Amino acid sequence: MSRSRVPPILRPRLTPKYIASSVVAIYVLYCWLWGMPLLSSNLPAYTGPHSVGTIDIESPCDGRKTSDVKFKSNGQPAFLLETVLFSVYYPSIKGAKSDKPKHLWVPKPLSITAEGYAKFAHISNFLTNSIFTVALWGLAGSITIPANVDVPLREIAPSFEFTEHGAGKPEVGNDGFPVIVFSHGMASSRTDYTHFCGELASRGYIVAAIEHRDGSGPGSMVMDIDGSERAVYHFGLGDLDVDDSFDTPELKQAQLDFRQAEIEETVRVLKAINDGSGTAIYEMNPRKEGEHLASWEGKLDMTNVTMSGHSYGATGALQALKGAPCPERPFHGGLILDPGKSSGPLNHDVDVPVLVIHSNSWSKKHSVFFGRPHFDVVKDLVVDVNNRGKAAWFMTSLGTSHPSVTDAPLIEPMLLSWTTGSTIDVYDGVDVYVNVTEEFMIFQKAHRRTGLLALDVTHPDYDSSTNGTQEMPQAYQRYWQIHVAPEST
Ligand SMILES: *[C@@H]1O[C@H](CO)[C@@H](O)[C@H](O)[C@H]1NC(C)=O
Ligand SMILES: *[C@@H]1O[C@H](CO)[C@@H](O)[C@H](O)[C@H]1NC(C)=O
Ligand SMILES: *[C@@H]1O[C@H](CO)[C@@H](O)[C@H](O)[C@H]1NC(C)=O
Repeated sequence: MSRSRVPPILRPRLTPKYIASSVVAIYVLYCWLWGMPLLSSNLPAYTGPHSVGTIDIESPCDGRKTSDVKFKSNGQPAFLLETVLFSVYYPSIKGAKSDKPKHLWVPKPLSITAEGYAKFAHISNFLTNSIFTVALWGLAGSITIPANVDVPLREIAPSFEFTEHGAGKPEVGNDGFPVIVFSHGMASSRTDYTHFCGELASRGYIVAAIEHRDGSGPGSMVMDIDGSERAVYHFGLGDLDVDDSFDTPELKQAQLDFRQAEIEETVRVLKAINDGSGTAIYEMNPRKEGEHLASWEGKLDMTNVTMSGHSYGATGALQALKGAPCPERPFHGGLILDPGKSSGPLNHDVDVPVLVIHSNSWSKKHSVFFGRPHFDVVKDLVVDVNNRGKAAWFMTSLGTSHPSVTDAPLIEPMLLSWTTGSTIDVYDGVDVYVNVTEEFMIFQKAHRRTGLLALDVTHPDYDSSTNGTQEMPQAYQRYWQIHVAPEST
């Protein structure tokens, strides 16, 4: 039989894509034969002192356009901001029961996410989309996020205390709950970092995790209060009606500008809630959540917000810090996790305290970034912030890999450690980030250096052959190397 008559799917070519699909197929078969669940773990409960609530908020944005680029297929604008969507995680009143079901980790309709991943793999067609949908359903379709949906926000203590591990609790006045805005990475969505966000909420923070509709995620449903829905999928240059002058860097910049607009809209909605418009936000929310938002009035510290992000989201967070704090972006601190290696230049113009953390694999893998080692570019950025008189840190969390702060390792620990080489316990992997984020919040709000942030530089350059230093408290030695820290006074 002539080789060309064999259907293409049966003609193996050893491309990375083919090998990856084969590995997944063998893994699925293995689990099935041995009667193992595809998922070894569900998402764990949060460990902080507060119960955790969550709300999806989608809010109209009067059609702001951040670029004139249109889709090839239908001539519609590619960067039109009709609504903004984010999940809020917050400390809820104790023992509050919800009559709404828990949120699914892969939002409905699941086929949008599946089709989006197929598009990422450049193999989207009816057959592959169906296979991806079934696979995703089997892998993650039943996972729920362990936060209670739409329960009331906790009463703020007369003087809000930060839960500082170990030592006493610093007094920071009664400004409302500290607010963190979080921006996700490439190929992700608002539900990919739920444990990090929910864990912070259990320790007293309000976290708004945005879902970006800039074409960098797998897929998202834009919903309007009139009931209309529009799916936004992953898109690339080939999907856009542009000439040769519009190249990949241009696309990245267009996406980052769109993300910045979404960040600003998120802030606008949170401010409206804090100013007493919670009922209006609820009534305009097509996702029909937020019934208690009226009682959130005055409970959010919207004058002193923290901007954070991971990967592409970290690059976007740095961009959003340009010119901050300002009314649209009232950010007084930045939490920057694995700033992108391929997401365009990093903004150095930062005038607020920042904590930049590299995962171990991000520091370990040497890569050239605009003609220089990526590590050096990030380090210089952090040094620049210190030189401007704002406190800035740069450190590597040992044993982690790029996805350690996401939910993926919690759900698929085996698969993730095989494929990414992380060696840290998966729960510790998220915990180290949450712990140091709390220390950063104490610094941003109370100007106190505690824990890891009270230490000096241990490793001006990353050193893959050692852990932290003997001088560090035991609890930090195996987890951290500090590359840049403010001068101790
Ligand atoms: C995070 O902080 C808690 C409270 O101090 C501590 O018990 C835990 O060991 C820390 N986690 C890690 C991974 O260092
Ligand atoms: C925000 O927090 C900083 C501490 O970093 C503090 O100095 C400042 O007064 C706060 N700003 C506002 C507007 O509350
Ligand atoms: C680093 O810490 C880990 C965990 O404590 C330990 O197993 C390893 O031997 C240490 N490595 C070095 C080079 O000290």
